[in-house]
Parts: sequence; C-alpha cells; structure tokens
Amino acid sequence: MKPIIRTERHKDVLAIITENPPVNALSQQVRQGLKESIVQALEDDSIKAIVIRCDGQTFFAGADITEFGKPSIGPILSETLDVIEAAEKPVVAAVHGTALGGGCEVALACHYRVGVPSAKLGLPEVKLGLIPGAAGTQRLPRLVGVENALSIIVGGAPILAEKALEIGLLDAIVGEDSLAADSIAFARAQIAKPIKRSSEGVAHQDGIKNPDLFDEFRTKNARGLRGFEAQNAALNAVKAATEMPYNEGVKKERELFLELMQSTQSKAMRHYFFAERAAGKIDNVDPSLPLIPVKKVGVIGAGTMGGGIAMNFLSSGIPVTILEMQQNALDHGTSIMRKNYERTSRKGRITVEQVEQALGLLTQTLDYKDLADCDLVIEAVYESMDVKKQVFGKIDKVVKQGAILASNTSYLNVDEIAQATKRPGYVLGLHFFSPANIMKLLEIVRGAETRDDVLLTCMQLSKTIGKVAVVAGVCDGFIGNRMLSPRQQQATALILEGANYWDVDDVLLEFGFPMGPFQMADLAGIDIGWHRDPFKVSTIREALCSAERFGQKSGKGFYDYDEARNRAPSEEVKAIIGDFAAKEGHKQRTISKEEIRERLLYPMVNEGAKILEEGMAQCASDIDVVWINGYGWPLQTGGPMLWADTVGLKTVVAGLNTHNLPICDYLSSKAESGETFN
Ligand code: 3HC
Repeated sequence: MKPIIRTERHKDVLAIITENPPVNALSQQVRQGLKESIVQALEDDSIKAIVIRCDGQTFFAGADITEFGKPSIGPILSETLDVIEAAEKPVVAAVHGTALGGGCEVALACHYRVGVPSAKLGLPEVKLGLIPGAAGTQRLPRLVGVENALSIIVGGAPILAEKALEIGLLDAIVGEDSLAADSIAFARAQIAKPIKRSSEGVAHQDGIKNPDLFDEFRTKNARGLRGFEAQNAALNAVKAATEMPYNEGVKKERELFLELMQSTQSKAMRHYFFAERAAGKIDNVDPSLPLIPVKKVGVIGAGTMGGGIAMNFLSSGIPVTILEMQQNALDHGTSIMRKNYERTSRKGRITVEQVEQALGLLTQTLDYKDLADCDLVIEAVYESMDVKKQVFGKIDKVVKQGAILASNTSYLNVDEIAQATKRPGYVLGLHFFSPANIMKLLEIVRGAETRDDVLLTCMQLSKTIGKVAVVAGVCDGFIGNRMLSPRQQQATALILEGANYWDVDDVLLEFGFPMGPFQMADLAGIDIGWHRDPFKVSTIREALCSAERFGQKSGKGFYDYDEARNRAPSEEVKAIIGDFAAKEGHKQRTISKEEIRERLLYPMVNEGAKILEEGMAQCASDIDVVWINGYGWPLQTGGPMLWADTVGLKTVVAGLNTHNLPICDYLSSKAESGETFN
C-alpha cells in the first residue's frame, strides 16, 4: 500500500507530499504524518526549506468530515499547524485544486503560499454550519485584513488564485504544470530570509480605520446571516481577532467551533453535504457504463420553461435547437432569453462576450425535422397528456435512433408518455424548476423502461449544467410537487377555518422558507388559469379575482402592495375569505401559529414517508435534497426528512393525530419502533 505521506529530497529542500484520495482530506493519519515529517525535517540540518504539497486532484480540501461527531484522535489540526508555523526554516504551501477549510488553514500556517492559476482557496466551513477550527479566523484577518477575511469566512465562497494573490493570500502564482518544481525553487529563494508568520500580523488595522466595519457588514449581509448560527459565530470569531491577542483569539475560535460542532444546524448541514453527493448515485446502475454523448440538445417550446431550460445548455457551451409552433412565439421566447442573459451581464455575472457566445449556439426552428440530429430532446409544452403524446410521437419519428427523449412534465405519467414512442427505453422525465436557468434542482424521472445508460447520461449532464439532480419514480407530482400538495391543501383549509393568511406565510418565513404560499400566489399571479367570469366563485382565488385582486402585478392580491412592492395584509381579503368560508359552511376560529406550523409541515413528512414506502425516492436524504434545492426548505434544518428525525417521528405522528390528518403505515411503524428516516 502506498504511504499517505511521503517526502522527496531536492538537495537542500524537502517536499512533504500527501496522497489521500479522493480529496486529500486531513484525516488523523494525515495530521499525524504531516507533524512527524515536519519535526524530522527540522532535525535534519541539511534541509534548509520545506514544501508542503499534495498529489491527486487537489491540495487538502479540508478536515475529514467523516470524522466529525466521532471521538477525536490527536493530533488535532491546530497542533500540527502550530508545529508548521513555529518552524525556523521557511515552509511553503504549494496549492493546486481547492485549498478549502482545514486545507486553507494549512496554507495559512505555512510561511509562504504559492499556487497554480486554476487553484482556489477558501474557508467554506459555514456551509457545514461550522467556522474554521484551526485558527483560520485568527490568521486570515492578520494576513489579508478584516474586510477580505470577513467576506471569505462569513461568505464561505472560495476565491481564485488571481484574487488570492491580489489580497496577499498567495505570495506567487506559478506554472499550471510545474507546481512541484516551481514551489521547490520558490522555497529555496526564501532560505535565510526572516520568517513571516501569519499569527504575528496585526488584524485590527481595518478595525481602527473603521470601527463600524462589523456593524456595516452585518447590515449589508443581513439576509445571509438571518437564521444561520455559523455565519454569526464566524463574524464574532473574526471580531475577536481584532480585539484579542492571537492565542486568546484562537481559544475563542475553538470554543465557538466546538459549540457549533454539537449544534443541530451543523449536523443538518453536514447531513446535506453527504445527501447531495449520495443523490448523484443511481440505485442498481453501474456507474462505469458508457455514456451517450450529448453534443446537441433540442428543446420543444420556447415559453418560460423551454427558454430557461435551453439557457442551461447554452451557458455550458452545448448548442441548442429550440422549436415553437408559431414564429411570433419563437421570437418572443428567444427575445426573453436574450433579456435574461443581458440582465445577468449587467449584474456583472457574465461578460457581454459570454452573452453573445451563448446565444450564438442557439438555433430557432418551426420544423420538427431540424431536431433530427439532436442527442437529447426535451419537451416543455403545455401540461396535457394528449399534447405530450402527440409531441413524443412526432419526435420519435424524426429524431435519430439512440437519442434521449425527455419530458419536463411536473406531474404526468412518464411511462404513458414513453408508450407514444417506439423507444421507451430512451424516454425519461427531466423536471426543471422555474426559473429553470437559475433553480438548482433537477428531478430525473425514471420510467419503468428507462435504460441505465440514459439515466447515467442525464445524471452526468446535470452536473455539466450545474444542477443538483435527484432520481424520482413515476408518480403524481414525483417527489417535490407531490409533497407540496398536502401543504397547499392545509394552507387553504387553515384560512377557511379562520387562520390569518399572513400568519400562514409568516410561519413558513419564520421557519426559514423564503416565501409563504400566499406570497407565492401573489408573485405568480392569482388569475393563472382563471375562467374570467367574476360571477362564478367556487374558490378563494376566484373570489379574489372577482375583486380584481390579481396579485403583485395589479398592486393587490392576498396582500396590498405599495410602489416598492412592500406587502401589507389586507382586511378586505380577510373579509372576502370570511364570507367565502361562511358560504361554504366553515366555522372560523382563532388558530395558533403552532397549529399552523404542524398542519403545514407534518403532512409533508407523511407524504415523504409514503414516497419512500412506494420506492419513489431512493432514500430519505434524496427528499431533503429536492426540498432544499427546489422549494427553499431551509438548509440549516437539513430538509424535511432530517427535520422530522430531529423533531422526532413520534412527535410528528402525535401531531398528525391531533389534527386528524392521515398517517401512512411506513411513518407510524418507524415512529413506533423509534427509528429515524436518515
Ligand atoms: N472530508 C471527507 N470526505 C470528503 C471531503 C471532506 N472534507 N470533501 C469531499 N469528500 C468526499 C465526498 O463525500 C465524495 O465522496 P463520495 O465519492 O464517497 O461521494 C468525494 O470526497 C468526492 O467529493 P465531491 O463529489 O464533492 O468531488 P468534487 O470534485 O465535485 O468536489 C471538493 C471536490 C470541491 C473538494 C468538494 O468535495 C468539497 O467542497 N468538499 C468539502 C470542502 C469543505 O467543506 N472543507 C471544509 C471542511 S471543514 C474543516 O475543514 C474544518 C476545519 O476548519 C478544522
């Protein structure tokens, strides 16, 4: 077996090289090995400088997350890093791939840092509900200033080598293919120079220049900080670096780190980290199967969904042919795609050249025959089984054999659609979420006959276009919409029984959702699908339409809106709902927020359990991935199924019983036997 750590002698410079695939996580063996290698190098007088680098795809990508929550075996990372930093010989970190978390902290403890142009460095611990735990919050502000440190540590996003050089996190950028040699040469050039240690820098300079810096940061980033314990702790840890001597700051950081490690939020976010990776693996499919090359994509329908779907591929450099029935619909759809791209460019997220590059890959057509040479065709037309069957019959005839045919249906039976073709093995659902160019979730709907290589190809493709994909079985609404349905039913039932509709929204906002169902209705437009007869009122939505309350676009829907789109609850609407409820024979009463919360969320858990019972999701954590990425379920709770585990399945069952709501066998038996979903 190859050793995890080896050394290479280059005359007076020693390279300590780690190889711990897949991502060189800083496991106990790595921490121990690094420490021992440094100690040995310091004892050898013929060694004058040291380089720390990694083999494989990346520099250390962080602490080993699989060790979290288990008893820790020393040395802890900060012990190893203190030995590195205390060295009297220059130590250089040679960075490629991603130096993340503990990996970035290794680099910070070294006296110098060099990296290849494609390297990225960052402290993403907040994404795991943690803060850096090996002095990253104390060394980084001393090295690059408080403002830069705050954005890296509280924001959690990695920065590119060029930016790292600009702010002083890297000392040099070296050749992309010559890191090993260049870092040795760099280290040799530092021999006999005074040693710079990042723990010795001064972190409070920015603070003195602008004592309001932390408050300003808090105000500017209020949304990102709301509800996240780790982001707030990270801010406090960086603040400590400006107020305390280094050693005390490190102690403060450690306290906060250990506290967070035990927190429900961090456990939930670590659950999500592994859940997302597990979702990428497909049950009973050999991951080494050859993929179907997808070099050209066809999209049928240039409406909001079709256009958004097409943009994903165009942005990833894959040519798209988009088809519509009428020229004006085609023109309208593609002009919206251009507008969307231009808006993104104005925000500085892509360049004007990238806009033109993406749109340059788009072909428009009114003729199905132009889809003939596509490797994948995605249908995004009106949600009607008859229409979908017609479309699939047509594409099956014109599109080359071996190409994949996908439907973007959000609830229709994919197996029935597949039967309209002579190649059901090549048919599946690819359910994008609106706005399709932005939302991360993709439900891959596995039909009864869908081939393994078709599934695997789509899973791989989802990564290419930056989506998080989850495999779902064929059932009404698949995973996401199927679970949304009982929540919507309860939301309507609650307001008919007397709950304030704004309380229903507020309960979800307080839980951490970005929006409640009635705000969502206002945003989407209450008149979607309205029959336009103001005298025919059989639902609350129809009652609102009769009162010309169409949603945000008309300045009033469930809420009243001012010019700046600030919403205010409407007494008129409350009365409309009250009248409607009376007409329908519902008695209204005061309903507590607790009841609202239980009635909105517990039925979703029950539906999730049914989905698992029927095998429509591969595992509970897949459901969590769907709801976090597709519907804004708050990440810090880990998704609906982990949240249910945290609340306790017995509590969920008891709540459903109290409110007279259905409980499936799977949920009740899990609760009875004291099990959890995850
Ligand atoms: N510990 C343990 N396993 C890890 C890991 C880590 N830090 N990072 C990744 N892995 C595992 C993944 O679970 C996955 O395993 P699998 O193949 O069995 O599913 C495998 O490595 C490959 O990971 P990805 O599929 O994510 O590979 P990518 O190439 O897409 O991405 C990456 C690589 C950018 C390094 C990404 O894995 C990543 O972001 N990792 C986490 C980085 C991170 O959060 N580091 C901070 C950890 S906390 C910390 O360091 C605390 C410290 O301050 C004390």
